[in-house]
Amino acid sequence: MIQESFVLRGGIAFSDNKNNITTYYRGYLVCVDGICKGAFPALPEEYKGLKLYDYGERLIIPGMTDLHVHAPQYTFRGIGMDEELLEWLSTYTFPEEAKYSDMEYAHRAYNYFTEDLRRCFSTRAVVFGTLHNEATLELMNQLDQTGLITYVGKVNMDRNGGENLEEADAAASLQATREWLERCEGRYVNTKPILTPRFIPSCSDELMKGLGELSKEKGLRIQSHLSENLSEIAWVKELVPASSCYANAYELFDTMGTPECPTIMAHCVHSDEKEMEILKNHGAYIAHCADSNMNLTSGIAPIRKFLDAGINIGLATDVAAGSSMNMVKTMLITLQASKMYYRLVDQNVKPLTFEEVFYLATEGGGSYFGKVGTFKPGYDFDAVVVDDSKMCSMRDMSIRERIERMCYNDADAVIKDKFVKGRKVYTRTE
Ligand code: GUN
Ligand code: FE
Repeated sequence: MIQESFVLRGGIAFSDNKNNITTYYRGYLVCVDGICKGAFPALPEEYKGLKLYDYGERLIIPGMTDLHVHAPQYTFRGIGMDEELLEWLSTYTFPEEAKYSDMEYAHRAYNYFTEDLRRCFSTRAVVFGTLHNEATLELMNQLDQTGLITYVGKVNMDRNGGENLEEADAAASLQATREWLERCEGRYVNTKPILTPRFIPSCSDELMKGLGELSKEKGLRIQSHLSENLSEIAWVKELVPASSCYANAYELFDTMGTPECPTIMAHCVHSDEKEMEILKNHGAYIAHCADSNMNLTSGIAPIRKFLDAGINIGLATDVAAGSSMNMVKTMLITLQASKMYYRLVDQNVKPLTFEEVFYLATEGGGSYFGKVGTFKPGYDFDAVVVDDSKMCSMRDMSIRERIERMCYNDADAVIKDKFVKGRKVYTRTE
């Protein structure tokens, strides 16, 4: 199926708003020229001429957005998880990322990443590469061909990366970034560049300032990490003594973005009211990485507080600190983490509901890309068809119950087909 106007039939579920999931058993989902025209319990007359694909008992949900994932870390996921952030970076991550100076290695490793991203629940992703231009362009080439829609960043780091993962100085890092951007121009359909200062400890003041200026000059978005780990936060205070908090350090270098050009900040585990205000004022997105935050003993981010404050939030896998690219598993860990925050940290902070977490995985992160992540009219037609027939049950279940069950028991949910802007980008063959 390559045409971009058609109707899908099946068990449809999508967020109306963050507190409600609309469902239709054997409903109709209409795509015209890659845009969703809506979901309906009965097919409107005007769409009866379109080709209909009947998925029977299968579920049809919006594609998910992985708002923060490190492509070069994919092949060592699940290793070294007894360390905390800074030791994990220097022992495992930086030596691995240094290998991407070798293009043969980069080609092979990025192929694993790209193929698996194509097969999972994500239709959109915001991705870290490494500091290497050649390898990052290779990653972008591969991702562009999948039909998934992505932002990809060549990473900037001019300090504290060890001898094999550091650019010579700020000028060299900025020059390499400009060259990378020139080589991206006109080259991709589905993949866009995003400025990527790794985090404050990796980037000198001069580099951060230069990236803030470059973002303004070219209207480019920025992604980075914020308040993930207590040792990291203390280090940032030492590195930028003039800052009132970690988020303010980014503000001082003009890298927190604007609502029109929003910055993504991964983690925000330890962000307090002051950081929340900064994030909100800039229209920044928090990439919530619940799996990673557990694995590296970083903590539990108070997502309920962020959500109630009206801050933009999406979910993210943060591979390899997160150990899988499965966004449905990420939803589950997000739910479990918020329940433990409520029980063990603060009983005034209510756990997230399934409705809220489904929203965050779809429209929450999707909104970073525009009208993305739900089946309301006018949204990009990003959809995932799921076969949950392996999950035996002794009773009839509603569509709402079946997607909750899929989240709590993701191993038995099989992705059949995946669409991005109405184009089929993946179909399961076996
Ligand atoms: N902070 C800076 N770099 C990284 C990284 O690669 N992963 C995580 N989880 N945090 C970081
Ligand atoms: Fe990360």
